[in-house]
Amino acid sequence: MNTTSPETSDITQDLLARAKQVFLNTYPLWPIVPDRGEGCYLFDIEGRKYLDFAAGIAVASLGHAHPAIIQASAEQMEKFIICPATYVTRPRVECAEFLADRCHLDQVFFCNSGAEAVEGAMKLARKAAYDRKGPQAHEIICFRQSFHGRTYGALSLTEKRLHHPFFEPYLPGIHFAIFNDLDSVRALISDKTAAIFIEPVQGEGGVRPADPDFLKGLRALADEHGAMLVFDEVQVGMGRMGTLFAYEHFGVEPDIICLAKGLGGGFPVGAFLARRDVAAHFTEGTHGTTFGGNPLATHVAHAVLRELTRPGFLDHVQEMAKLLREGLETLRHETNEIVDVRGVGLLIGIETVYDIRDLLTTAQKNGLLATQAGSGQTFRLTPPLIVGPAEIAESLDILRRTFAELRARG
Ligand SMILES: Cc1ncc(COP(=O)(O)O)c(C=O)c1O
Repeated sequence: MNTTSPETSDITQDLLARAKQVFLNTYPLWPIVPDRGEGCYLFDIEGRKYLDFAAGIAVASLGHAHPAIIQASAEQMEKFIICPATYVTRPRVECAEFLADRCHLDQVFFCNSGAEAVEGAMKLARKAAYDRKGPQAHEIICFRQSFHGRTYGALSLTEKRLHHPFFEPYLPGIHFAIFNDLDSVRALISDKTAAIFIEPVQGEGGVRPADPDFLKGLRALADEHGAMLVFDEVQVGMGRMGTLFAYEHFGVEPDIICLAKGLGGGFPVGAFLARRDVAAHFTEGTHGTTFGGNPLATHVAHAVLRELTRPGFLDHVQEMAKLLREGLETLRHETNEIVDVRGVGLLIGIETVYDIRDLLTTAQKNGLLATQAGSGQTFRLTPPLIVGPAEIAESLDILRRTFAELRARG
């Protein structure tokens, strides 16, 4: 993927070469350099236009350069953007109230990323288990194909670590059950279990939705063993399922929810939320942050939340999800090159007969940005939630052309 396309100019090639010199080599680099965005479109430094159905990997829910984000950030920038977390600010209180008013959970801790939200939730779940059941109750159950982030705690819950022995030792007491297999959880859960962590739709694991009955079963098992049920909604929350919180779509209420990505619409902000009786296990000095909950991040997140909850917005997400899904199913029947279409709302994964890198590169050349879910063969579409019917039709046209091109190559 580190190759440059023939049309790539000296400016792009120069930046790519410099990037290779100064960045740690943790990512393969695409041969385009994004420069600005507008709604569902990104423009690269060469002036080429792309329909952005990656959206920062399910982050830019309001698209690029949304007026509400511009206004909220400018407003707060002019006032002040930081103070110690020991000071209450209006944006932090209002944003937390807005979230708590719209779900069954009561208290919020703001941080800066998804991994941090998971770390905080792990600490809270373990503290609650320690207080309620004793020090032996530190175990956590998570799932195969899971992804929860790259810090040590979150990574300890992430299946990929099983293939990365060079980072060992990970946190002890973590067990991997099989996604959508309640018996595998039953076999692992005990009074030593502090929590079950699950993504209601596994994102990096290949866009795999949980069965609602499986989540109900987890709720019952967690209750039976006095363990916390934690939903990692970092990728799936904040409107992407067509409901503000992902749990609403599945009809199962977790004890703790982790958020990030879409919460700030692109501005780095994360959070975890808990019921009051659970949150009470964190006391002064048990957790903290320098940047988390800063006035700028929370003012922007509040503005994003207001947009996501405008009357009709989430209905629009559901309609667009249906349209995209139907279009992909039509394409699947037309060409026989799509093997599977899955997902919920505007988080869609497709499996095709083509190599994922070829598919991504060709779609990109034809003007459509998407992502690979994890390291598998799943082509993932996570358009901005403001996407309209015309952009969905355009994405399907590009995919149709892309398949034709790949087919012709043989
Ligand atoms: C489900 C889930 N949890 C946690 C994370 C980690 O988020 P971040 O990259 O903001 O640390 C991600 C990121 O993709 C995610 O998809």
